[in-house]
Amino acid sequence: MRTALHTSIRPMTADDIAQVVEIERESFPSIWPQTAYRRELQNKLARYTVISEPDGPEQDEAQPATVWSTLRRIVGNPPSPAHELLLGFIGVWMMPGEAHIVTVAVREDRRRSGIGQRLLIAVIEQAQEDGQELVTLEVRRSNDVAQRLYEKYGFQRAGLRVRYYTDNNEDAVIMTTPDVSSPSYRELFERLRRAHQEACPDLWD
Ligand SMILES: CC(C)(COP(=O)(O)OP(=O)(O)OC[C@H]1O[C@@H](n2cnc3c(N)ncnc32)[C@H](O)[C@@H]1OP(=O)(O)O)[C@@H](O)C(=O)NCCC(=O)NCCS
Repeated sequence: MRTALHTSIRPMTADDIAQVVEIERESFPSIWPQTAYRRELQNKLARYTVISEPDGPEQDEAQPATVWSTLRRIVGNPPSPAHELLLGFIGVWMMPGEAHIVTVAVREDRRRSGIGQRLLIAVIEQAQEDGQELVTLEVRRSNDVAQRLYEKYGFQRAGLRVRYYTDNNEDAVIMTTPDVSSPSYRELFERLRRAHQEACPDLWD
């Protein structure tokens, strides 16, 4: 398992779109046009979050530290995406009473390193801070990997949207959390978050 180095998690900007589309291409049968992301970034209901690591030779720990790389470690990554490799992204719509996850994907060669969980944790935290009751999403019936991730975070099957995906007429499973502000959910979530922080410290600032 390859771990990430000095990752940062932050809101998506228009400069991230090219790399987001690159990750989408290796993740989904069909991709959104770049214009859709530009529109989404203007959408007041939408929140898009990316996780990235520094790109280029400076990320090699064996290289002697430069003034620039030292500065970066102290103050965090610069905002310039030219120096960042995007590892994954997640998008959510804050609807009345529910946070609806509309997309989530991790770079193919970086999966199974805790990045998907890190993104999901960020969204559940946003939902709790916004006072949302539920976090919901649709997932392809055949996507066992994603369903396992959601189940780990307390999502349960809430219904089916028949032939929801137009590319292959596949059904969507609707998955929903219990009330994310309830004491029992907070307890589960805190336990999972602490376990993730211990297992993947590089994914936490
Ligand atoms: C779903 C996805 C985002 C998961 O990202 P990831 O970074 O690999 O996930 P994590 O490493 O954080 O794994 C979290 C959990 O997901 C489940 N999981 C992830 N990969 C799995 C696999 N290959 N087999 C079984 N379970 C898996 C496990 O429950 C895992 O928890 P565990 O490590 O305690 O077993 C990633 O596989 C992806 O981008 N898939 C393509 C896009 C997609 O399907 N998006 C979902 C649309 S609804």
